[in-house]
Amino acid sequence: MTSASLPPAARIGWIGTGRMGYAMAERLARSGADLTVWNRTRAKAEPLTQHGAKLATALPELAACDIVFCMVSTWDDVREVVAGPGGLLSERNRAPRLLIECSSISLEGSAELRGLLSPRGVELLAAPVSGNAKVIKAGRLSFVCSGPKSAFDAALPFLRMIAPAASYVGEGELARIVKICHNVFLGVVTQSLAEITVLAQKAGVPRHAFLDFINQSVMGSTFSRYKTPAFVNLDFKVTFTPQLLRKDLDLGLEAGRRFEVPMPLASLTRDILQTMIGRGMTEEDFAQLLLLEAEASGLKLSPENVAVGDGLS
Ligand SMILES: NC(=O)c1ccc[n+]([C@@H]2O[C@H](COP(=O)([O-])OP(=O)(O)OC[C@H]3O[C@@H](n4cnc5c(N)ncnc54)[C@H](OP(=O)(O)O)[C@@H]3O)[C@@H](O)[C@H]2O)c1
Repeated sequence: MTSASLPPAARIGWIGTGRMGYAMAERLARSGADLTVWNRTRAKAEPLTQHGAKLATALPELAACDIVFCMVSTWDDVREVVAGPGGLLSERNRAPRLLIECSSISLEGSAELRGLLSPRGVELLAAPVSGNAKVIKAGRLSFVCSGPKSAFDAALPFLRMIAPAASYVGEGELARIVKICHNVFLGVVTQSLAEITVLAQKAGVPRHAFLDFINQSVMGSTFSRYKTPAFVNLDFKVTFTPQLLRKDLDLGLEAGRRFEVPMPLASLTRDILQTMIGRGMTEEDFAQLLLLEAEASGLKLSPENVAVGDGLS
């Protein structure tokens, strides 16, 4: 049986309940999906039982599900949880029908994954996402998907439980390059926003006043609005780590080399982010690019303690 014939009450497995995976799985569980969850650090998945999710003690238990979602960190981690010893496919006769892989990974990793799944009769929908955990909670996440169109159609009711938007961009691994391009843009835009915010402040404009204007201008965006509280009040609780953003900029630069596309802004942003990581600024949000820029400008920032909205809540 292929994923095209998945029942409406399909059994869903979930691998990875980090910042993103937890919030996504929570929406599925709250929508009443028959959900079984596994996380390497079990304690992080436990609160999902309040919403009716079951916990798996070992990954191969999820092979009995119809669909398995995966949301871990890098391609190496995806390979480990899917095909490693003790992984999802480690018991010979059991495999789900469809894997929906949501981590931000390379085109090559995704193709290798498809090659590992195919002999076991498992279809792959590449389904990376745009938005952080707060965006997920606000019901504003979006998926970009590629793989067999029939697999996308079968997955859509479940994707919709998590996010209102799911774009299908074609066969194979195309969704991966869309997500890589998206995150290159995220890095470059954040660095640019940091530069102009520091420039305006050094010239005498408070950050909250500057960003109030930007957010209402034609250049304002969902992103500039939801990063505004961090920029104004310097709350850098992690939404996305500098290391994960560096991974995505590296994926973008690799893709640029492969397709012979110069990416000077991405390259510069990658090195600025590397400086931040090299200085040990790794435990808080990547939006600390603002602090690095201020320091390079001889400006000591302090929280403005102004109530500013994030456009989400
Ligand atoms: N945060 C964002 O804003 C955002 C937005 C869009 C896409 N993404 C992408 O989404 C993915 C997850 O990001 P995140 O922010 O949720 O990261 P995170 O909070 O660091 O969570 C990573 C998850 O992967 C698990 N994991 C990592 N390596 C593993 C391994 N070798 N074996 C088993 N489990 C492993 C972790 O398990 P433990 O709990 O045991 O550590 C955790 O559940 C990344 O590919 C990221 O680039 C992130």
